[in-house]
Amino acid sequence: MGRCPECGAWGTLEEESGRKEPAAGGVAAPRVVPLSDVSAEEAPRLPTGVPDFDRVLGGGLVPGSMVLLGGEPGIGKSTLLLQVAARMANTVGPVLYVSAEESARQIKMRANRLGSVTSRLFLLPETSLEKILAACEKGGYAAVVIDSIQTIASAGSQTPAGSVGQVRECAARLLAFAKSSDVPVLLVGHVTKDGTLAGPKALEHLVDAVLSFEGERVHAHRVVRAVKNRFGAVHELGLFEMTGSGLVEVVSPSTFYVKSRLASRAGSAVLVSIEGTRPMLVEVQALTVEAKFGSPRRTAIGYDATRLTLLAAVLERHGGLRLGAHDVFLNLAGGATTEEPAADLAVCAAVASSLLNRPLPESTVVFGEVGLLGEVRAVTEAGRRLKEAVTLGFRSALLPAGNAGDAAGFPDLSVTPIASIEKLIA
Ligand code: TYD
Ligand code: MG
Repeated sequence: MGRCPECGAWGTLEEESGRKEPAAGGVAAPRVVPLSDVSAEEAPRLPTGVPDFDRVLGGGLVPGSMVLLGGEPGIGKSTLLLQVAARMANTVGPVLYVSAEESARQIKMRANRLGSVTSRLFLLPETSLEKILAACEKGGYAAVVIDSIQTIASAGSQTPAGSVGQVRECAARLLAFAKSSDVPVLLVGHVTKDGTLAGPKALEHLVDAVLSFEGERVHAHRVVRAVKNRFGAVHELGLFEMTGSGLVEVVSPSTFYVKSRLASRAGSAVLVSIEGTRPMLVEVQALTVEAKFGSPRRTAIGYDATRLTLLAAVLERHGGLRLGAHDVFLNLAGGATTEEPAADLAVCAAVASSLLNRPLPESTVVFGEVGLLGEVRAVTEAGRRLKEAVTLGFRSALLPAGNAGDAAGFPDLSVTPIASIEKLIA
């Protein structure tokens, strides 16, 4: 560019080359190794002392790994990592908690509230990357927490803290520290509702694991979900409740979402979904009301609205339900969410139940995928879903005909195989 687009002056731009060209011919070919000769001994994992957090990580922290915990401001990231840091300090070794957002006094106040005060947890209120790295190198810590990656800055980069350049530079240098010292580094990253803020998105390829901390601020429950994990399964999740003294693990997630259910009401169906590796009971609620004007609405909370529209069309065409003149509202109780295809049949059952004003048979779970032709398709892990239902005292199940064989091991369960939407309505 000859002219500066900012001030309009000519010939004032100077080229700045970030990379040195390698000297031609001066590079020796590096040694490559056959895959069969590579040792793949699993490094021992460091337990964080918070079992649900360990589960999401795939069984604890991997030494030398870098983990990003993303979430909206105020969701509880600092709270969770302070709890993790304190427990690790007690069980594994000294932990460094770097806070670039809060003073040591503020953190102490929070720790008091959490009951997480320990002499092996060290605080560093600091925003300079260079000082933070110097502290990390010196300490011999079992883990380092950086709260947050958007508020620290390197003197080497001219851009302000929180810009993509700074965030990348800081993360890359912390990663180098993690890999060279084998100390796991946990980063906090803020994201807005649409996940666009500079930072977390730009970091995803760099870090070993990206955990997303989700939940509605109005609900007390919080979900930690692995979005990416080089050392474990993704979509594994941990469930917490925010209380007056910090985050408490939800011990029995299945009962959590269905605990205040009105079983005898029309429009309610209990789904057994598999979130990550865990079966979980979720109440699906539907409400159909006569549409007042215009085209009828399909609204969903915790579920994909497009999918609901599609299932409503299937119910209308293959189930013979007159949904065309009705608004359909769907809600997963307790702030739950699911993207599982196995939820289809429960959604259909709840909608049909509401429209026909007939409650589902008592103590029944429902799962199955529904196709556009009205067919009900088999789903994975039917046996584990049924086991969870039986454990929690459910006595009958509506499931895809293709999964009927999986029910053989549950003689006490009354099973109705459903091959099509027609059969469901019948
Ligand atoms: P915080 O961890 O500061 O959120 P983040 O770091 O993600 O921005 O805490 C978020 C909210 O949690 C805060 O509004 C207060 C609430 N909270 C509790 O309800 N109980 C507690 O014990 C603590 C420490 C916080
Ligand atoms: Mg915070």
